[in-house]
Amino acid sequence: MTISNPRLSEIPDKYIFDFNVFGDPRVGPNVHDDMACLLHEAPEVFYTPANGGHWVARSFEAIKSIVQDPECFSVKEMNIPRIENPPKLIPLHLDPPENLPFRQILMPMFSPKPVKKMEDKIRYWAKEIISDVVSAGKCNFVDEVSIRFPLTIFMALMGMPFDRLREFRELSEKYFAAREAIDIQTLAMQINGIMGDFIEQKKATPDDGIISHLLSTKLSNGRFMATEEIQNMCMLLFLGGMDTVANNAAFAFRQLALMPELQSELSEDPSLIPKFVEESYRAFGVICTPHIVAKDCERFGVGFKEGDMMLCMLPLSGRDPNVTDNPNTFDIHRSKREYLTFSSEPHLCVGAFLARTELRILTEEWLKVIPRFTCKEGLSQEFHIGMGIALEGLSLECVI
Ligand code: HEM
Repeated sequence: MTISNPRLSEIPDKYIFDFNVFGDPRVGPNVHDDMACLLHEAPEVFYTPANGGHWVARSFEAIKSIVQDPECFSVKEMNIPRIENPPKLIPLHLDPPENLPFRQILMPMFSPKPVKKMEDKIRYWAKEIISDVVSAGKCNFVDEVSIRFPLTIFMALMGMPFDRLREFRELSEKYFAAREAIDIQTLAMQINGIMGDFIEQKKATPDDGIISHLLSTKLSNGRFMATEEIQNMCMLLFLGGMDTVANNAAFAFRQLALMPELQSELSEDPSLIPKFVEESYRAFGVICTPHIVAKDCERFGVGFKEGDMMLCMLPLSGRDPNVTDNPNTFDIHRSKREYLTFSSEPHLCVGAFLARTELRILTEEWLKVIPRFTCKEGLSQEFHIGMGIALEGLSLECVI
């Protein structure tokens, strides 16, 4: 059941701005530019009556101060509209200090050293996937490349069989599209069930994957994780590590397809590709994060009430003209870049280094064999917005 929020009548008019994060007619396929222009008309923190009523933070500074203030803005509930019995992902849905032992157990697996050790494998999968595109001379980048690539890496990291790739992809897509409590809960149970089966398998036959690591390593508070905690953590990795990379790569490659001069520049000097990656993560954030107000408090001149929901528009953090010059221009050579696409402490994305590595390697390997390509449809692809922002398809053609 959805819990409605009857706060609208108490909010001063100047803070009200109607915006439906799940679909607004003013936001088209040029999603980030459109959202940046639209929400620039609203106060940096505003209240929308849509989706049960909730606050929205759109400026870099407002978003940063909210995600760094767990005493007032908690992650215990992260569903808009609010639902009963929301799924619990570990450590995402734990405020400090409770989240710390769980972050600490995850971080060594995603730090630069182990990710660098994986580079050869990541490069191998990138080459395999891209070689299919070269043979066909074209692709639906979303279906054939940007989803397949991080999913393959995720399954290898977890020690899961590749033949379940399609099934996993469908599940994660359905989860992100679900809005009704019953759908979210059913899908969460389904994903948890799959993770539970894998955990039992790894208990019997340990390997060098993440699940076996979680089973065999004690938390910093001296105890092993319970099976249910490992399940919830695996579900977070499942949901957090695949769609995000896929969605960002699709926006980044659409941008590159529309900039032939940038393709030439990066092909001639691949050492510029990390700058392309950083600019892509600045310009094309794909995750918005809801928080729940934990106690009555005043911030930004606004009175928040316990139980209010706050949506942080992380994808707009890199589009704030007060922080970034010409934020709607894609410029790999900009001298300063600040963005919160991966959020910030205490929930700074654990997989950020892996995500950057994945996009860098994909771009390097792509440009080696496809130095010129176009996007026939320009910007007019199907897309969706919500807590996740995604292109649903992207037709790219190789230019011989
Ligand atoms: C483009 C790629 C990615 C983006 C944009 C992204 C974004 C984010 C964001 C915004 C958060 C904080 C969420 C919040 O506070 O509500 C987060 C947390 C997290 N991400 Fe990522 N992520 C990406 C890739 C990955 C990958 C590849 C992994 C690992 C396989 C990963 C694992 C995690 C984990 C475990 C957390 C929870 C951290 C915590 O709560 O302490 N992410 N990510």
